[in-house]
Amino acid sequence: MSINPGRILSAPLSLPCGAKIKNRLCKSAMSENLGAVDHRPTSRLSRLYEKWANGGVGLCITGNIMVDSRALGEPRNVVVENESILDELTAWASSGTQNQTHLWAQLNHPGKQSPSTLSPEPVAPSAIPFEGALQKFFNPPRALTEAEILDLIARFAKTAGIVKQAGFTGIQIHAAHGYLISQFHSPHHNQRTDDWGGSLENRMRFVLEIYRAIRKTVGKKFPVGIKLNSSDFMHGGFTEDESLAVAEVLAAEGIDLIEISGGTYERPAMTGRTAKGQTHDGEAYFLSYASGIRQKIQTPLMITGGFRTSNFMAEAVADNRIDLVGLARPMAIDPDLPNKILSGEAYTSTVKPLTTGIPIIDKMALLEVTWYEQQLKYMACDQPTRPNQSIWFSLAKTLVENGFQVFQKRRA
Ligand SMILES: Cc1cc2nc3c(=O)[nH]c(=O)nc-3n(C[C@H](O)[C@H](O)[C@H](O)COP(=O)(O)O)c2cc1C
Repeated sequence: MSINPGRILSAPLSLPCGAKIKNRLCKSAMSENLGAVDHRPTSRLSRLYEKWANGGVGLCITGNIMVDSRALGEPRNVVVENESILDELTAWASSGTQNQTHLWAQLNHPGKQSPSTLSPEPVAPSAIPFEGALQKFFNPPRALTEAEILDLIARFAKTAGIVKQAGFTGIQIHAAHGYLISQFHSPHHNQRTDDWGGSLENRMRFVLEIYRAIRKTVGKKFPVGIKLNSSDFMHGGFTEDESLAVAEVLAAEGIDLIEISGGTYERPAMTGRTAKGQTHDGEAYFLSYASGIRQKIQTPLMITGGFRTSNFMAEAVADNRIDLVGLARPMAIDPDLPNKILSGEAYTSTVKPLTTGIPIIDKMALLEVTWYEQQLKYMACDQPTRPNQSIWFSLAKTLVENGFQVFQKRRA
């Protein structure tokens, strides 16, 4: 079949809440690590998001914004707990919504995936420490009390209300990649015996109550979506069948968009790696799972992870397998990518696996994330990105900027 990717991907998408996204391309969340020391948004974030907005993307999702300053994933996360940062948030939203771009705030809590340098005592559904290689980077968590669970649900809703007030045009709940919500979903990490653990119905109660509280705060006409793991790829963990059941419940509640990803930083399937560090061969890692979900629910669907050619992106949309194409690493190198694809330019991504060839160094310094964060920083400082930057240069730069603390995993 001969297809015209530019035409197919230029079609607008209507969401259940009534909002419209101008095309089928989405910049998926990438933690920028560009907040101020006190976690306020900075002018660098505004400059970065202005570039994406002008690059033609239909939907732009922020890197994870934390709902609790006691629980960070990275030292320079933005945290939104109250209205005191409304001015900075408003400036960020106004840059990122130029050019009729939808700008959604991704809300997150890391749970036990908060590095020991940032959290003396992280919280989690149950007091189950990480095992194996990750153990030395994270302090053992303590189990949340029920009052704390209810407080966290209220925090997600409060943060959602503040970012809406600031001019963001939607919310994405981060329920993927091993952070707190996905810890609640996992029977391995969640061994509670109260109403928040045990059966799948109980394990999904946290995300459901978060969704309901956010919806109540932002109203029916404001987009609320979720990033959900297809599976966490762990023995005894969250399975594809369970993920499908969660998606069905959220669809029935009226969620606007389900983005599918997968894995955790113990099992980094989201960037196409297996636990042993091998890379995925094909394009779009979670497409076959998405086909299963497509048969069960009508909610707009997006997958992220591994899209590398405009033809493949257009085929996935034209075949009605997904509604939106999620792109992360390609957008860290070229913010104008959507304009190029939509104008009909045949596109093949230059994104390739990054490695020093020494697995222990790759793993400990989380080099891939660091390399891409450096590209985001170049854009935020109005410099061109450096797609050919060597991974060794990246490591040296990180060591100069952060010292050997980098080997204490800044991010999970
Ligand atoms: C530097 C970097 C930061 C990321 N931060 C986040 C994040 O804050 N929230 C999130 O849901 N995913 C995050 N991701 C994962 C991406 O959204 C995406 O799922 C993954 O990179 C696979 O998509 P890709 O093949 O298009 O890069 C991050 C990825 C990178 C490279």
